[in-house]
Amino acid sequence: MERIVEIEKMKIESEYENSLRPKTWNDYIGQDKVKKNLQVFIEASKRRNESLDHVLFFGPPGLGKTTLAYLIASEMGANIKMTAAPMIEKSGDLAAILTNLTEGDVLFIDEIHRLSPAIEEVLYPAMEDFRLDIIIGSGPAAQTIKIDLPRFTLIGATTRAGMISAPLRDRFGMHFRLQFYSNDELARIIKKASLKLNIACKDDAADEMSKRCRGTPRIALRLLKRVRDFAQIHNEHSISQERAKYGLDELGVDEQGFDEMDLKFLNILLNAKGRPIGLNTIAAALSEDEGTIEDVVEPYLIATGYIERTARGRVATPKCYELFKLSPLNLGLFAQKDS
Ligand SMILES: Nc1ncnc2c1ncn2[C@@H]1O[C@H](COP(=O)(O)OP(=O)(O)OP(=O)(O)O)[C@@H](O)[C@H]1O
Ligand SMILES: [Mg+2]
Repeated sequence: MERIVEIEKMKIESEYENSLRPKTWNDYIGQDKVKKNLQVFIEASKRRNESLDHVLFFGPPGLGKTTLAYLIASEMGANIKMTAAPMIEKSGDLAAILTNLTEGDVLFIDEIHRLSPAIEEVLYPAMEDFRLDIIIGSGPAAQTIKIDLPRFTLIGATTRAGMISAPLRDRFGMHFRLQFYSNDELARIIKKASLKLNIACKDDAADEMSKRCRGTPRIALRLLKRVRDFAQIHNEHSISQERAKYGLDELGVDEQGFDEMDLKFLNILLNAKGRPIGLNTIAAALSEDEGTIEDVVEPYLIATGYIERTARGRVATPKCYELFKLSPLNLGLFAQKDS
């Protein structure tokens, strides 16, 4: 299983991300509905002495999909094998992974929307009947060999809800869509993480950071690490609000936590002065594919009420014009933001 090991290495995004990853439900802040449901289903399947039904997580990057997969495995007392769809090139790759599982194992497939149709075909009987159908030979002489697999739990994760095929989606017994985190939840995540990083973080400092991390724990933790650097350089043993503000400004983190792509996106809509702009036009202007814009860039802007999807295209909301001190009728442009 060299591949899996390789992938594991690849997936360890960075040492700190792993060390800060919540190991218990208690440390996993927010996503209350997801958590509550999962706890029930895990408990029930444990009582029945069965493996947990297959689980699919949707949601933008950094909201905690991989973390949940680890938590589920640990709650089930199961081993977890991690892989990602782009690493499974041939059906033989998947067959090797599946036949190496043992009873009760959790198999995590990241970016599951990227599995090829041929590989999905191999996965279907494995998910439904814990059976592997291997075709040997071709044409009229081809033979199918059926191999029984141990009962395992597949956990799939994807940032691209729209791209996962319906037959694959339907074979998961549970679907969970992760939500952006509230400022309050993010502040709690930041405070917990700061303890693990051996630095105290004042409440108002955590609040300051929580507002600027795009509703995303991964960004919150990244900001915390950088702000900690600023504090330590100044020989401070705790992070104050002033230091947090200073650090975030030095890092060029916008007050709303918008990243460059958000700002470019909003700029296009604001310049349209209320006229809806089609997704394809936006995608071309940003040199990004439409799916990434729809599943990765837009959800945060929609969740925070800065843009709307309409039948005719995307529009900036009054809240967005207000933020940039523009009116849809005013011909002022984005550059006026700071004036
Ligand atoms: N609910 C949470 N409470 C505390 N920390 C969290 C929570 N969710 C995520 N994190 C932290 O945020 C980081 C990113 O989470 P994770 O890797 O699970 O995101 P992801 O959804 O799998 O992202 P991607 O789509 O990029 O794979 C991790 O370091 C984890 O520690
Ligand atoms: Mg992940």
